[in-house]
Amino acid sequence: MALLELPQRIIYGLDSINQLPVEAVAFGKKFSFFCGESSLKRSGFFNKILDSLDKYGLEIQVISGITPEPDIPSVDDLLNRVKNYNPDGIIAIGGGSVIDSAKIVSALIATNKNIFELRGKEIEEALPIIAVPTTAGTGSEATRFAVVTDPEIRDKFLLFGKALLPKVAIVDPELTFTMSVIIASATGIDALCHAIESFLSRSSTPYTDIWAKEAIEILWNNLVPAIIGNSSPSKEKVSYAAFWAGVAINNTKTTLVHAMSRPLGGIYNVIHGIANGILLPAYLRYNAPFIPHEKMNYLKYLMGGYPPEKVEELLEKLNLPTRLSQVIRGEIDIQILVNKAKEAQMNISNNIRQVKEEDIYYLYEEVL
Ligand SMILES: [Fe+2]
Repeated sequence: MALLELPQRIIYGLDSINQLPVEAVAFGKKFSFFCGESSLKRSGFFNKILDSLDKYGLEIQVISGITPEPDIPSVDDLLNRVKNYNPDGIIAIGGGSVIDSAKIVSALIATNKNIFELRGKEIEEALPIIAVPTTAGTGSEATRFAVVTDPEIRDKFLLFGKALLPKVAIVDPELTFTMSVIIASATGIDALCHAIESFLSRSSTPYTDIWAKEAIEILWNNLVPAIIGNSSPSKEKVSYAAFWAGVAINNTKTTLVHAMSRPLGGIYNVIHGIANGILLPAYLRYNAPFIPHEKMNYLKYLMGGYPPEKVEELLEKLNLPTRLSQVIRGEIDIQILVNKAKEAQMNISNNIRQVKEEDIYYLYEEVL
């Protein structure tokens, strides 16, 4: 038996952001509005969006400047502010960190539990979330997952549950057009990892492969023109592909790349997409003998060669690092990384090749 899970409503296309107030009124009159540091303001969308919400008579609590990579203290701070306001839902416009923060806060409010009580259990209640991505990569607008950092133990963990899946996802590519090159590259590679990991995961099905393959193909053909060539049609395609890659992992989960990248972020603060990009060629090499022939042939044909080598070439074209030593100064404690990566059993057991502890060790060593 298989189940497919998507946001209830998916609105996409240029100018689809104009639908936001219409979608919001279906959930109530009062919303907290989460957004990031400045890109929304720089692009001019911030005032435009707030004006449109105002025209529909919606009451809005603006919480801007949400920091990247949410941690427990920053989420607690958001929780206090939102709880006092008592909204009908949360509108989250930003990258994965903004959308994940909205998911966590909405679950904490609706369940009246703390983050540790929610950890490891299916989350069944949350305030309605309307998610609007401004990056093309994390796919958080399409998933039932949120990542949070616990600074006390320098580790990241996943919260999950169907209530975390946004009720509405609005994918307006124009909102991603002002991303910096480094954010576009890091989030673009994250999306490619989602699509490839979903495609090669143990939980993949013919249905999830439709989304994953489409996303791999679009990302492969459009990441360089979008980011290096500054092509608007390619940026638009990348934006949709990142969403489909999010849908794919929502229904299959990610695998070894994400299990191994999480501690690189938690302990050494390596940006999520950058860490994934460094790991992707080694992951493909490691799994290659276990990838079904038709899937391997598909990747070889699309990429025009042996996938691990072609992905390395792509990283270089995007000016992304290919080794950990390029992003971490000083000693790297591989054993601690291995211990933390092992805890992501949900992802490790989903890897197509059965993963042993020593394999994780050697893979980190390979990308030092
Ligand atoms: Fe990711």
